[in-house]
Order: sequence, then C-alpha cells, then structure tokens
Amino acid sequence: MATLKQLRAEAAGCTRCDLYKCGTQTVFGEGTARARVMFVGEQPGDQEDLQGRPFVGPAGRLLDKALAVAGIDRRDVYVTNVVKHFKWEPRGKRRLHQKPNAREIAACRPWLDAELSVVKPDIVVCLGSTAAQALLGRSFRVTKLRGRPVPSPLAPKVLATVHPSSVLRAPDDETRERETAAFVRDIVTVARLLRELEAGGEAARE
Ligand code: URA
Repeated sequence: MATLKQLRAEAAGCTRCDLYKCGTQTVFGEGTARARVMFVGEQPGDQEDLQGRPFVGPAGRLLDKALAVAGIDRRDVYVTNVVKHFKWEPRGKRRLHQKPNAREIAACRPWLDAELSVVKPDIVVCLGSTAAQALLGRSFRVTKLRGRPVPSPLAPKVLATVHPSSVLRAPDDETRERETAAFVRDIVTVARLLRELEAGGEAARE
C-alpha cells in the first residue's frame, strides 16, 4: 500500500477534474498516519490554497481552538478535505469560494479513500454538509444529526458537525458565540468518544 508521502506526491499532479486549473496547488491531507481521528472538510480555502496545507486559515484556527478546549492535540489528528483543490470565482480582488459539484467530489474521492485506508482512523468527523453528504449520503442532515455517531463502514465512530466557516459567517456576535460553543461541544464529544474507545481497547486487552 502507498504511504501518505507517496499519495501526496501523486496527488500533486492530479488532473482527475478541471479544478487543478483553478487552484494554485493540490492541498492534500496533513497529519500522522497513526492519527486516531480524521477530520474531513469540504475543500481548501484561500489561505490553504496559497500555503498548500489544509485548515490553516480562519476556519482552521477555529478548529484548533475547539481541539485545544477538548484536549485533543492537532498533532494527533489527520485533517483533510473531500476536494483537494480550491474552487473559486473572482469577485473584485477577492477569490470567492464556490461549492464543489458532485462530479468534482466523485473525481477526488479516490484520494480520500486512500487516506482512509492508510490512516484507518478510529473516528471520522465530517465538517459541514458537503463532507457529511459525500461520506454519509445525500440525505444526511447535519442540522439534525450533528455531534451524534452514526453507523458507517468508514470507521468505528463516524459523526458530523457544522463547518467552522459557517460558524464564522454567523450574522452577529451573539449567534457566533452560540455557534462556537455548539461546535466546541461537538469536538468535546469527539474527545469523549476517543477516551471511550481507548477504555474499550484496554478492557479487551485485559
Ligand atoms: N475549509 C475547508 O473545508 N477546508 C479547509 O482546508 C479550509 C477551509
């Protein structure tokens, strides 16, 4: 089986869909192959596209903050996206994020499947409905099922929460604070599930 390093090198030249013409570079997942938790977002944003690393912009900072509150070290997680090129359209001087379509998501899927089979995480966390619907089915509703593990062959525990960018887009401070707290709670749930899996594994070894 290929290593993450080999997959990353291969993905750097990916032309499976036209998004390679749009983004600066492929933004492959990042983290150790021994990570127990894999976070899956939608696609790299502006900062990620420029730096070539996932979740390093404002959404990544919110994810880092939630991980810190939950006591999860970012170095122990693997962070990636369902689509690995930034899709955008010009709006004045800005590059405005565009949602990837089903064809682009499907074209990119082999990379995510390869990451999953190398890392074999205990927990997969879908960030936002694009990732959740790509991995858990088109009818999945994050608003209804956020923070709750759902049955999936992807990993022993699979759950979804909102995308941190949606929290940052909240229309006012009060909503943003409430949404931040709810997002942090979902990541705290991930930490609890990790501890439970750990305790279960230890019990099985005794
Ligand atoms: N949003 C995502 O979905 N992924 C990133 O890497 C950054 C922002």
